[in-house]
Amino acid sequence: MKVSANNPGKFIAFEGGEGAGKSTQARLLAAALEARGIACTVTREPGGTAGAEAIRALLLGTEGEGWNPRAEALLFAAARSDHVERLIRPALESGRWVICDRFVDSSRAYQGGAGGLSDADILALHRIGSAGLLPDLTLLVEVSPETAEARTSARDIDGADRIGGREAAYHARVAAAFARFAEEEPTRFARIDGNGAAEAVHASVLDALKPLLGAA
Ligand code: TYD
Repeated sequence: MKVSANNPGKFIAFEGGEGAGKSTQARLLAAALEARGIACTVTREPGGTAGAEAIRALLLGTEGEGWNPRAEALLFAAARSDHVERLIRPALESGRWVICDRFVDSSRAYQGGAGGLSDADILALHRIGSAGLLPDLTLLVEVSPETAEARTSARDIDGADRIGGREAAYHARVAAAFARFAEEEPTRFARIDGNGAAEAVHASVLDALKPLLGAA
């Protein structure tokens, strides 16, 4: 599996379930890095490019009958392929750091662990779509189900999207899959307790980044 280690910029992904606070932490991290003189690109999945945002609307919109798990995985992989080719790789090659709100581990957790596809199949789609690009560091933000519920109900006042709105058991499988990946790849993953205030979580994120910042 190819990683971005040869790029001058570093690739950092935030992962976790719904309401973990990933987008807030992505923004806080970018501001902290910019303050150190590191140029950052903040982006998200599914999305980040015009094509991938169009696929996002297909995936998360609540109209129509939805997708079977394999079609869903293919669409996420197609969106990621466009995102990597048009935005992530060029940014890394130009020396920018890329901070991405979700990446391939979301497909492994949602379509794989929770949706029933095998991890090998998700990784095969990722190899075809994105040459197997992996983040230099994946920050897994973990919150209790109660914190997640409180944050998503405050945020999703118009109702959850097609995937966020799945049953609690689905989201429990997502959380278990993420935890398993972090245990299996302790150097690529850092586990962050996301239950506290945003500033406290941010301090843990900066702590986890120390090895990368030392090398920057
Ligand atoms: P988003 O509103 O970005 O969710 P959140 O704010 O919780 O991160 O919606 C993304 C949804 O898509 C979320 O439910 C997770 C899901 N998802 C997958 O199922 N597979 C994937 O590969 C990705 C990137 C996201």
